[in-house]
Amino acid sequence: MHPSGHQQSEGGSIRRLRAGEIELQVLDRGAGMPVVLIHGFPLDHSMWDAQSAHLSTRWRVVAPDMRGFGGSQVTGGTATMEQMADDVAALVEMLAIDEPIVLCGLSMGGYVALEFWRKYAGRLRALVLCDTRAAADTPEAAAGRLETVERVLRDGTEPLADAMLPKLFAPATLENDPHTVATERKTMLAADPEGVAAALRGMAGRRDFRDQLAKISLPTMVIVGENDTISTVDEMRSIAGAIAAAEFVILPGAGHMTPLENPTGFNEAIEQFLTRVERGG
Ligand code: MLT
Repeated sequence: MHPSGHQQSEGGSIRRLRAGEIELQVLDRGAGMPVVLIHGFPLDHSMWDAQSAHLSTRWRVVAPDMRGFGGSQVTGGTATMEQMADDVAALVEMLAIDEPIVLCGLSMGGYVALEFWRKYAGRLRALVLCDTRAAADTPEAAAGRLETVERVLRDGTEPLADAMLPKLFAPATLENDPHTVATERKTMLAADPEGVAAALRGMAGRRDFRDQLAKISLPTMVIVGENDTISTVDEMRSIAGAIAAAEFVILPGAGHMTPLENPTGFNEAIEQFLTRVERGG
Protein backbone atom coordinates (compact mmCIF):
# COMPACT_ATOMS: atom_id res chain seq x y z
CA MET A 1 0.00 0.00 0.00
CA HIS A 2 1.31 3.46 -0.92
CA PRO A 3 1.93 5.70 2.12
CA SER A 4 -0.97 7.92 1.02
CA GLY A 5 -3.26 4.93 1.44
CA HIS A 6 -3.59 4.58 -2.32
CA GLN A 7 -2.44 1.57 -4.28
CA GLN A 8 -2.06 1.63 -8.03
CA SER A 9 -3.38 -1.59 -9.47
CA GLU A 10 -5.27 -2.73 -12.54
CA GLY A 11 -4.59 0.74 -13.93
CA GLY A 12 -6.68 2.40 -11.23
CA SER A 13 -6.53 3.48 -7.68
CA ILE A 14 -7.45 0.95 -5.03
CA ARG A 15 -7.83 2.33 -1.57
CA ARG A 16 -9.37 1.56 1.73
CA LEU A 17 -11.45 4.31 3.22
CA ARG A 18 -13.92 4.86 5.99
CA ALA A 19 -17.50 4.88 4.70
CA GLY A 20 -19.90 5.59 7.54
CA GLU A 21 -19.30 3.02 10.24
CA ILE A 22 -16.82 0.74 8.45
CA GLU A 23 -13.74 0.63 6.24
CA LEU A 24 -14.24 -0.43 2.65
CA GLN A 25 -11.74 -1.22 -0.07
CA VAL A 26 -12.67 0.33 -3.39
CA LEU A 27 -11.36 0.51 -6.93
CA ASP A 28 -11.87 4.03 -8.27
CA ARG A 29 -10.82 4.45 -11.89
CA GLY A 30 -11.51 6.91 -14.72
CA ALA A 31 -13.48 10.16 -14.87
CA GLY A 32 -16.93 11.28 -15.88
CA MET A 33 -20.38 9.87 -15.16
CA PRO A 34 -20.05 7.70 -12.02
CA VAL A 35 -20.80 4.01 -12.53
CA VAL A 36 -20.80 1.92 -9.34
CA LEU A 37 -20.40 -1.87 -9.70
CA ILE A 38 -21.55 -4.17 -6.87
CA HIS A 39 -20.18 -7.71 -6.91
CA GLY A 40 -21.97 -11.00 -6.25
CA PHE A 41 -21.61 -13.45 -3.38
CA PRO A 42 -19.04 -14.56 -2.14
CA LEU A 43 -16.74 -12.57 -4.42
CA ASP A 44 -15.16 -9.12 -4.55
CA HIS A 45 -14.61 -6.17 -6.90
CA SER A 46 -12.16 -8.16 -9.05
CA MET A 47 -15.07 -9.96 -10.75
CA TRP A 48 -15.58 -6.66 -12.63
CA ASP A 49 -11.97 -6.36 -13.89
CA ALA A 50 -12.98 -6.60 -17.57
CA GLN A 51 -15.70 -3.98 -17.04
CA SER A 52 -13.60 -1.55 -14.99
CA ALA A 53 -10.82 -1.68 -17.59
CA HIS A 54 -13.24 -1.05 -20.46
CA LEU A 55 -15.75 1.39 -18.99
CA SER A 56 -13.17 3.56 -17.19
CA THR A 57 -11.89 4.77 -20.57
CA ARG A 58 -15.12 6.83 -20.76
CA TRP A 59 -16.57 6.99 -17.26
CA ARG A 60 -15.65 6.92 -13.57
CA VAL A 61 -15.91 3.34 -12.37
CA VAL A 62 -16.23 2.71 -8.64
CA ALA A 63 -16.12 -0.95 -7.61
CA PRO A 64 -16.13 -1.58 -3.85
CA ASP A 65 -15.63 -4.78 -1.92
CA MET A 66 -18.79 -5.05 0.12
CA ARG A 67 -18.51 -5.43 3.90
CA GLY A 68 -17.12 -8.85 4.78
CA PHE A 69 -15.50 -9.42 1.38
CA GLY A 70 -12.18 -8.77 -0.39
CA GLY A 71 -10.14 -6.09 1.37
CA SER A 72 -13.09 -4.57 3.23
CA GLN A 73 -13.77 -4.78 6.91
CA VAL A 74 -15.53 -7.89 8.14
CA THR A 75 -18.49 -7.37 10.40
CA GLY A 76 -20.05 -10.30 12.23
CA GLY A 77 -23.71 -11.02 12.87
CA THR A 78 -25.95 -10.17 9.93
CA ALA A 79 -24.92 -7.97 7.02
CA THR A 80 -28.27 -6.86 5.66
CA MET A 81 -28.78 -5.76 2.06
CA GLU A 82 -29.96 -2.44 3.52
CA GLN A 83 -26.69 -2.03 5.45
CA MET A 84 -24.74 -2.74 2.29
CA ALA A 85 -26.82 -0.13 0.43
CA ASP A 86 -26.08 2.33 3.25
CA ASP A 87 -22.38 1.49 2.85
CA VAL A 88 -22.60 2.33 -0.87
CA ALA A 89 -24.31 5.64 -0.07
CA ALA A 90 -21.62 6.49 2.50
CA LEU A 91 -18.88 5.49 0.07
CA VAL A 92 -20.26 7.68 -2.70
CA GLU A 93 -20.31 10.58 -0.25
CA MET A 94 -16.74 9.89 0.91
CA LEU A 95 -15.60 9.90 -2.71
CA ALA A 96 -17.24 13.35 -3.09
CA ILE A 97 -19.46 12.13 -5.90
CA ASP A 98 -22.30 14.62 -5.89
CA GLU A 99 -24.02 13.71 -9.15
CA PRO A 100 -26.47 10.80 -9.44
CA ILE A 101 -24.79 7.44 -10.03
CA VAL A 102 -25.47 4.56 -12.35
CA LEU A 103 -25.70 1.54 -10.07
CA CYS A 104 -24.97 -1.90 -11.48
CA GLY A 105 -25.24 -5.01 -9.32
CA LEU A 106 -24.91 -8.71 -10.00
CA SER A 107 -26.96 -11.21 -7.99
CA MET A 108 -26.29 -10.20 -4.34
CA GLY A 109 -25.18 -6.88 -5.85
CA GLY A 110 -28.62 -6.63 -7.46
CA TYR A 111 -30.31 -7.15 -4.07
CA VAL A 112 -28.16 -4.28 -2.78
CA ALA A 113 -29.04 -2.14 -5.82
CA LEU A 114 -32.77 -2.59 -5.20
CA GLU A 115 -32.31 -1.59 -1.55
CA PHE A 116 -30.31 1.43 -2.67
CA TRP A 117 -33.15 2.41 -5.01
CA ARG A 118 -35.67 2.02 -2.14
CA LYS A 119 -33.71 4.33 0.17
CA TYR A 120 -31.77 6.62 -2.14
CA ALA A 121 -33.67 6.82 -5.45
CA GLY A 122 -32.79 10.52 -5.70
CA ARG A 123 -29.10 9.63 -5.94
CA LEU A 124 -29.61 7.33 -8.92
CA ARG A 125 -29.34 8.10 -12.61
CA ALA A 126 -29.90 4.56 -13.88
CA LEU A 127 -29.88 0.93 -12.78
CA VAL A 128 -28.29 -2.20 -14.24
CA LEU A 129 -29.62 -5.42 -12.73
CA CYS A 130 -27.55 -8.47 -13.68
CA ASP A 131 -28.43 -12.11 -12.98
CA THR A 132 -30.37 -11.25 -9.85
CA ARG A 133 -33.74 -11.80 -8.23
CA ALA A 134 -36.50 -9.53 -6.96
CA ALA A 135 -38.15 -12.25 -4.86
CA ALA A 136 -37.17 -12.87 -1.25
CA ASP A 137 -35.89 -16.29 -0.19
CA THR A 138 -38.53 -18.94 0.34
CA PRO A 139 -38.52 -20.29 3.93
CA GLU A 140 -36.73 -23.40 2.61
CA ALA A 141 -34.07 -21.35 0.82
CA ALA A 142 -33.54 -19.20 3.93
CA ALA A 143 -33.21 -22.31 6.10
CA GLY A 144 -30.69 -23.72 3.61
CA ARG A 145 -28.63 -20.54 3.90
CA LEU A 146 -28.57 -20.81 7.69
CA GLU A 147 -27.29 -24.38 7.37
CA THR A 148 -24.61 -23.07 5.02
CA VAL A 149 -23.68 -20.50 7.69
CA GLU A 150 -22.99 -23.35 10.14
CA ARG A 151 -20.98 -25.25 7.55
CA VAL A 152 -18.88 -22.25 6.50
CA LEU A 153 -18.09 -21.34 10.10
CA ARG A 154 -17.12 -24.96 10.81
CA ASP A 155 -15.36 -26.00 7.59
CA GLY A 156 -14.36 -22.74 5.88
CA THR A 157 -15.33 -21.61 2.40
CA GLU A 158 -13.88 -24.46 0.31
CA PRO A 159 -16.98 -26.71 0.43
CA LEU A 160 -19.11 -23.66 -0.42
CA ALA A 161 -16.89 -22.89 -3.42
CA ASP A 162 -17.09 -26.51 -4.59
CA ALA A 163 -20.87 -26.46 -4.30
CA MET A 164 -21.36 -23.05 -5.92
CA LEU A 165 -18.96 -23.03 -8.85
CA PRO A 166 -20.82 -25.60 -11.00
CA LYS A 167 -23.99 -23.51 -10.55
CA LEU A 168 -22.42 -20.12 -11.20
CA PHE A 169 -20.96 -20.95 -14.59
CA ALA A 170 -22.46 -22.31 -17.79
CA PRO A 171 -21.27 -25.83 -18.72
CA ALA A 172 -19.30 -24.36 -21.63
CA THR A 173 -17.41 -22.00 -19.29
CA LEU A 174 -16.62 -24.83 -16.87
CA GLU A 175 -15.19 -26.80 -19.77
CA ASN A 176 -13.48 -24.14 -21.86
CA ASP A 177 -12.44 -21.43 -19.43
CA PRO A 178 -10.82 -23.12 -16.40
CA HIS A 179 -8.74 -20.01 -15.72
CA THR A 180 -11.81 -17.85 -15.00
CA VAL A 181 -13.35 -20.57 -12.85
CA ALA A 182 -10.09 -21.05 -10.92
CA THR A 183 -9.75 -17.30 -10.35
CA GLU A 184 -13.23 -17.04 -8.80
CA ARG A 185 -12.55 -20.17 -6.75
CA LYS A 186 -9.46 -18.47 -5.36
CA THR A 187 -11.50 -15.41 -4.41
CA MET A 188 -14.02 -17.66 -2.64
CA LEU A 189 -11.30 -19.51 -0.73
CA ALA A 190 -9.82 -16.20 0.39
CA ALA A 191 -13.20 -14.95 1.65
CA ASP A 192 -13.50 -14.62 5.43
CA PRO A 193 -15.99 -17.18 6.80
CA GLU A 194 -17.42 -14.56 9.21
CA GLY A 195 -18.06 -12.15 6.35
CA VAL A 196 -19.59 -14.89 4.22
CA ALA A 197 -21.82 -15.98 7.12
CA ALA A 198 -22.98 -12.41 7.74
CA ALA A 199 -23.96 -11.95 4.08
CA LEU A 200 -25.76 -15.33 4.02
CA ARG A 201 -27.84 -14.24 7.02
CA GLY A 202 -28.52 -10.91 5.30
CA MET A 203 -29.62 -12.54 2.03
CA ALA A 204 -31.83 -15.01 3.92
CA GLY A 205 -33.76 -12.09 5.44
CA ARG A 206 -33.88 -9.81 2.43
CA ARG A 207 -37.01 -7.96 1.30
CA ASP A 208 -39.29 -9.07 -1.52
CA PHE A 209 -39.18 -6.40 -4.23
CA ARG A 210 -41.55 -7.93 -6.76
CA ASP A 211 -44.44 -5.58 -6.03
CA GLN A 212 -42.09 -2.56 -5.95
CA LEU A 213 -40.61 -2.99 -9.42
CA ALA A 214 -43.43 -1.10 -11.17
CA LYS A 215 -42.43 1.99 -9.17
CA ILE A 216 -38.95 2.07 -10.70
CA SER A 217 -39.02 4.87 -13.24
CA LEU A 218 -35.26 5.05 -13.90
CA PRO A 219 -33.65 3.93 -17.13
CA THR A 220 -32.87 0.29 -16.34
CA MET A 221 -31.00 -2.48 -18.07
CA VAL A 222 -31.71 -6.07 -17.07
CA ILE A 223 -29.00 -8.54 -18.12
CA VAL A 224 -29.03 -12.33 -17.82
CA GLY A 225 -26.92 -15.18 -19.13
CA GLU A 226 -28.88 -17.57 -21.34
CA ASN A 227 -27.75 -20.51 -19.16
CA ASP A 228 -28.24 -18.88 -15.76
CA THR A 229 -29.83 -21.49 -13.50
CA ILE A 230 -29.80 -19.33 -10.34
CA SER A 231 -31.68 -16.31 -11.71
CA THR A 232 -33.24 -17.72 -14.84
CA VAL A 233 -34.04 -15.99 -18.12
CA ASP A 234 -37.77 -16.26 -17.31
CA GLU A 235 -37.35 -14.72 -13.88
CA MET A 236 -35.20 -11.88 -15.23
CA ARG A 237 -37.65 -11.34 -18.09
CA SER A 238 -40.43 -10.84 -15.57
CA ILE A 239 -38.28 -8.30 -13.67
CA ALA A 240 -37.66 -6.40 -16.91
CA GLY A 241 -41.35 -6.63 -17.80
CA ALA A 242 -42.38 -5.06 -14.50
CA ILE A 243 -40.06 -2.03 -14.86
CA ALA A 244 -41.47 0.52 -17.30
CA ALA A 245 -38.18 1.81 -18.71
CA ALA A 246 -36.27 -1.48 -18.72
CA GLU A 247 -34.28 -2.94 -21.57
CA PHE A 248 -33.73 -6.69 -21.47
CA VAL A 249 -30.56 -8.39 -22.68
CA ILE A 250 -29.91 -12.14 -22.83
CA LEU A 251 -26.20 -12.91 -23.18
CA PRO A 252 -25.36 -16.04 -25.16
CA GLY A 253 -22.86 -18.54 -23.77
CA ALA A 254 -23.10 -17.28 -20.19
CA GLY A 255 -24.46 -18.68 -16.97
CA HIS A 256 -24.89 -16.60 -13.78
CA MET A 257 -21.54 -14.78 -14.12
CA THR A 258 -22.26 -12.79 -17.29
CA PRO A 259 -19.50 -10.15 -16.89
CA LEU A 260 -16.89 -12.93 -16.69
CA GLU A 261 -18.38 -15.45 -19.09
CA ASN A 262 -19.27 -13.11 -21.93
CA PRO A 263 -17.26 -9.95 -21.20
CA THR A 264 -17.45 -8.72 -24.79
CA GLY A 265 -21.23 -9.00 -24.97
CA PHE A 266 -21.61 -7.59 -21.47
CA ASN A 267 -19.33 -4.62 -22.17
CA GLU A 268 -21.05 -3.82 -25.47
CA ALA A 269 -24.51 -3.93 -23.90
CA ILE A 270 -23.61 -1.80 -20.90
CA GLU A 271 -21.56 0.66 -22.96
CA GLN A 272 -24.47 1.26 -25.32
CA PHE A 273 -26.84 1.64 -22.37
CA LEU A 274 -24.52 4.08 -20.56
CA THR A 275 -24.12 6.11 -23.75
CA ARG A 276 -27.90 6.48 -24.00
CA VAL A 277 -28.17 7.32 -20.29
CA GLU A 278 -25.48 9.97 -20.61
CA ARG A 279 -27.24 11.54 -23.58
CA GLY A 280 -30.43 11.52 -21.57
CA GLY A 281 -32.11 9.25 -24.11
C1 MLT B 1 -24.68 -14.37 -5.99
O1 MLT B 1 -24.19 -14.71 -7.07
O2 MLT B 1 -24.48 -13.25 -5.49
C2 MLT B 1 -25.52 -15.39 -5.25
O3 MLT B 1 -25.91 -16.40 -6.13
C3 MLT B 1 -26.69 -14.73 -4.61
C4 MLT B 1 -27.52 -15.67 -3.80
O4 MLT B 1 -26.99 -16.61 -3.18
O5 MLT B 1 -28.75 -15.44 -3.71
